[in-house]
Amino acid sequence: MQNTSHLIALLHEQMFTYERGNPERIAHLTKVHDYARTIGLLEGLEEETLATLEVAALVHDIGIKESLEKYGSSRGDLQEKEGPPLSRDLLTKLSFPTSMIERVAFLVGHHHTYTNIEGIDYQILVESDFLVNLQEKKTSIEAIREVYEEIFKTKSGKQFCGEMFGV
Ligand SMILES: [Fe+2]
Repeated sequence: MQNTSHLIALLHEQMFTYERGNPERIAHLTKVHDYARTIGLLEGLEEETLATLEVAALVHDIGIKESLEKYGSSRGDLQEKEGPPLSRDLLTKLSFPTSMIERVAFLVGHHHTYTNIEGIDYQILVESDFLVNLQEKKTSIEAIREVYEEIFKTKSGKQFCGEMFGV
């Protein structure tokens, strides 16, 4: 495997191409990736887990476009169904290791499922997506407080959420 950071940058570039003409989705995946990498580093993730998390963050919403085209809806469960095969294809094309491709497909297929979050990569992916979604969707402070209590578990994720929204 070539230098991991470079491979991740190539994936980021591919996601621009995949989401061509949709600046909202491109900005979204870029922000989620940034939070995920920063939280991952602050939480001391080992190299391979951090790389898996970063890759998952970049492709987590890859199923939205297909869901919209097929069903006219980007509901969470539809994305979770459409996303994994798309992420597998893209990551295989870029020669990511098989174990990482499978874990990322699992994460893409579960990123809207908040029961039974197992694994620090899964936890931080969900936290990073919430940090962005709570802001993009202009969520009420009451609802943010609930998510802060129920969803955020890592020290830096909780800190980011608390400081960003003042909860
Ligand atoms: Fe997302």
